[in-house]
Amino acid sequence: MTTLIINIKELLQIRETAIAKVSGAEMAILPTIKNAFLVIKDNLITDFGSMENLPAIHVDKKIDATGKMVLPSWCDSHTHIVYAGNREQEFVDRINGMTYEEIANRGGGILNSAKKLNESTEAEIYDQSKTRLEEVMRLGTGAVEIKSGYGLTIEGELKMLRVIQRLAQNYPITIKATFLGAHAFPLEYATNHEGYIDLIINEMLPEIAKYKLADFIDAFCETGYFTVDETQQIMEAGIKFGLKPKIHVNQFNSIGGIQAGVKYNALSVDHLEVMKTEDIEALKNTETMTVALPSCSYFLSIPYTPAREMITAGLPLALATDYNPGSTPSGNMNFVVATACIKMKMTPEEAINAATINGAYAMGISETHGSITVGKKANLIITKPIPSYYQLPYAFGSNLIDTVLIEGEIFA
Ligand code: NIG
Ligand code: FE
Repeated sequence: MTTLIINIKELLQIRETAIAKVSGAEMAILPTIKNAFLVIKDNLITDFGSMENLPAIHVDKKIDATGKMVLPSWCDSHTHIVYAGNREQEFVDRINGMTYEEIANRGGGILNSAKKLNESTEAEIYDQSKTRLEEVMRLGTGAVEIKSGYGLTIEGELKMLRVIQRLAQNYPITIKATFLGAHAFPLEYATNHEGYIDLIINEMLPEIAKYKLADFIDAFCETGYFTVDETQQIMEAGIKFGLKPKIHVNQFNSIGGIQAGVKYNALSVDHLEVMKTEDIEALKNTETMTVALPSCSYFLSIPYTPAREMITAGLPLALATDYNPGSTPSGNMNFVVATACIKMKMTPEEAINAATINGAYAMGISETHGSITVGKKANLIITKPIPSYYQLPYAFGSNLIDTVLIEGEIFA
């Protein structure tokens, strides 16, 4: 099946030769072709260029993109899409003055979601999660990482990871799974942290590895959650089972989690709302991607990741949603891109790079996703007719997506 898209007003994020990621000043460059065509054969991009050089080929399907932009679909490298129920009441409690940390300390927060998850059947969790997945796919997400971490029991964590596996089997979108057993200490282990870490390392991890249920290992390294030392133990154990670390660090406090992540060659360090100079220094000349989650900052009214400082220091930066019931009940990458521009002073070019190729890197799929490159997956967004791609962050409340293609087929 060959599909040809013609008259594309501007084809964004074209990379003739594949790149893994963009860093520092390179992030400001977004290569494009105006008045372009693109050829898809089955699920892959096979050719693209300027309309003047349109080859005479037989096609099964033609899409006229007059006035529209085409770009690689968003790569959302950090989500918790699989969960049960919601936390609307905590949202209202925060409006009335409580903080996220106060709510967690009274047994709400992650433990509230864990209770709901353990009380729900696998079928119920699957049904709720697939609705969210379909929603984000319609919003232009073409690859997504999903974490466990609301089970906090062997059965609960396996249940979540099986739901992620089923979503990956049943939907054309690329899904990567992360084991986040170290998300919070369950109440019964409140005074026995060693006991819970032992459970993660010696009971959960071997089961997860046996059934190949995860690609990555994660831990919430934060005051009141997992210490740097505990996070290191978790990373080390994950690595032994072939799981690369991707960790939650520096959301509320800078306690050395970044340095630990770098030490264990983490694929990414995520959140980074609170960054010290030494944290930025530690990340220089490493293979670790930094991931900012601006809709979490927005929803919790906490600081935004200091993107300008980090990009000036030469670091790469990716953007993701953090879609979860507590800190970010939204999986809209378009809003993430807009908020990064509006609140973090990223340019549209930087934000689009961060949400495509760098997002792909942060989940280990930049060879197949994140740019318009021959041989990569035909996971694409076709916008509505717009004057320029600046509209994407500028018109922050509008849905500018016309068509979404996943693996070469129209999804929405
Ligand atoms: O990335 N910070 C840790 N975990 C999630 C939120 C968890 C929750 O509140 O349910 C996050 O923001
Ligand atoms: Fe998260």
